[in-house]
Amino acid sequence: MKTLGAAAVISIIGGLVFIYSGLFNVATAWEDPALVHWVLNTTHGGSVAKRAASIDVPPLGEAQQIEEGFRSYREMCAICHTPPGGTDSPTAQGLNPAPPDLAKYAEHLSEAELFWSIKNGIRMTGMATTGTGTKQR
Ligand code: HEC
Repeated sequence: MKTLGAAAVISIIGGLVFIYSGLFNVATAWEDPALVHWVLNTTHGGSVAKRAASIDVPPLGEAQQIEEGFRSYREMCAICHTPPGGTDSPTAQGLNPAPPDLAKYAEHLSEAELFWSIKNGIRMTGMATTGTGTKQR
């Protein structure tokens, strides 16, 4: 038990030293090491799946919804998520993680996961919220 306690204290002190040391590079231009990439992606995937699980997807695909979606996409999304056949904007090129090509990537997400991500955004990636801006816990 004492050994466990000592290990916990050493881990906490080590973590604090790392946080305050400035060793971790927060630059967008810095490529994440494989371990950091895995931790962020796995945390992201699990978080979205858990929160989207209770969403009832409403009927989709009405002509008016498609038209509004097209307009909103051009206004709010295209600067980062280059539309098919388009050229990446400087903003899209400068983001880390890179904004996915939604024409392909969206196939890997359920409609509920797409809805949740688009409404709430993805923290620390540049992916904005389209919600009311009210922060939730
Ligand atoms: C400022 C840039 C930016 C804008 C504007 C933006 N996104 Fe994103 N988006 C990103 C980035 C970066 C990611 C990648 C996040 C990651 O890999 O963790 C992303 C991820 C996503 C994902 C995948 C989410 C997931 O759970 O994997 C979807 C869907 C998405 N965006 C849709 C949209 C839509 C729709 C809009 C407009 C309403 C939009 N984005 C606006 C940068 C942006």
